[in-house]
Amino acid sequence: MAEYDLIIIGGGPGGYVAAIRAAQLGLKTACVEGRGALGGTCLNVGCIPSKAMLHASEMLHEAETSFAKMGIVAKSVSVDLPQMHAHKKSVIEANTKGIEFLFKKNKVDYIKGWGTIPAPGEVKVGDETHKAKNIVIATGSEPATLPFLEIDEERIVSSTGALDLPKVPKKLVVIGGGVIGLELGSVWKRLGSEVTVIEYLDEITPGQDGEVAREFRKILKKQGIAFELGAAVTGVETLKTKLKVAFQRRKDGSEHQIDADIVLVATGRRPYTKGLALEELGVRMERGVVMTDARFRTNIPGLYAIGDVTEGPMLAHKAEDEGMAVAEEIARGKSHVNYAVIPGVIYTTPEVASVGVTEEALKAQGRDYKAGKFPFMANGRAKANLVSDGFVKLLADAKTGQLLGAHIIGPAAGDLIHEICVGMEMGATAADIARTCHAHPTYSEAVREAALAAGDGAIHF
Ligand code: NAI
Repeated sequence: MAEYDLIIIGGGPGGYVAAIRAAQLGLKTACVEGRGALGGTCLNVGCIPSKAMLHASEMLHEAETSFAKMGIVAKSVSVDLPQMHAHKKSVIEANTKGIEFLFKKNKVDYIKGWGTIPAPGEVKVGDETHKAKNIVIATGSEPATLPFLEIDEERIVSSTGALDLPKVPKKLVVIGGGVIGLELGSVWKRLGSEVTVIEYLDEITPGQDGEVAREFRKILKKQGIAFELGAAVTGVETLKTKLKVAFQRRKDGSEHQIDADIVLVATGRRPYTKGLALEELGVRMERGVVMTDARFRTNIPGLYAIGDVTEGPMLAHKAEDEGMAVAEEIARGKSHVNYAVIPGVIYTTPEVASVGVTEEALKAQGRDYKAGKFPFMANGRAKANLVSDGFVKLLADAKTGQLLGAHIIGPAAGDLIHEICVGMEMGATAADIARTCHAHPTYSEAVREAALAAGDGAIHF
């Protein structure tokens, strides 16, 4: 039996990145994964398959709505759903195989099976117990459902089932107006479903900059998605031919019902630690979250945790950053993740991207700030491409001009945001962005114009 410097339990974006970095830093490393493929939720049933479906359905939508305007005649555009799923599957396979290749290249041992931690310094997989000087828990998260709702992944589905529906539902009811609900709601709306999103709060995407969230909802509504805001789902009745979703409007307590063929439960995710035997080990946990210090250490010596099982946003890229950092921590005794600069992206059309603080948070802090805003309507490239919905908003300190946050809704927002991420990481001001030459014509000019708007004024608006 091999003795390892490090065993990582979980082969998702947190775990596999930690494994590769640890091996690069000279640690004898193994990664334990039970689902039969590396890449975790993100690669197998999350980020990557959803992007394949989002892109394919967006192309259909473009063909239906923009082609004629642009002078393209596509007489019979239709959906071949089995082929769309096959495309998605091939993307997943190519990516998971890619990680296996990276493991081999970096000499990371891939231990297949579900791991448990019988004692500090030991990881048991099947009948074999492996010794490790250090263990990292990177077991991710699973969908959290409502207490009265059982997910069967056929008619009442989580994101996993919603990515694999064998036919386009006539009526899809989405519970939860967060990232998953809106991304997958968009997919099926474009493929032909009637989609209603029921959200408990009074606005979609809680935590988002308010102005962006309102604009986002208006655009999605224009695309045909219906919203029931401020509504609590109270039950789902399963009939032979349909589902009946009951909800209560919070403001007046009135009871309502809506029919559905499929119900997508998208009310958040919870840490996944099943089978690890953490309670027996005495690992400190709160509400299922594994508690760590700033150096990813749990209260058990040699046992670390990263990613969705720990505190903070459940995002693949946050887990990846922690994966690299925990490997550096174990190999070199130092690490750093800048939690103030973790972008969030919603891959709808238009995309929504944000980093740093929201305007609401700045107001609540009583901070003196200036906001610069620029609409894509005034961006030449966006107009030429018929994607001029949305805007860029930059927030900067009123005195120093230092960038505090950015909120973008519009074309390629998920890519544009990184200019501001790099700027924030380097302590840049809005004037630094404004003074940087941006190529014309690009969407990124809207970011520069927003920075100009935070100073002496935008040129094109
Ligand atoms: P979420 O936390 O983004 O949204 C859940 C929504 O459900 C919230 O708006 C909440 O108010 C609402 N809700 C909760 N209980 C409800 C109820 N009983 N009735 C009606 N509404 C209710 O969670 P979501 O969308 O399930 O995503 C889970 C995690 O996965 C999140 O942490 C998200 O960041 C991550 N994710 C990230 C993606 C991305 O970065 N593009 C894509 C998909 C998921």
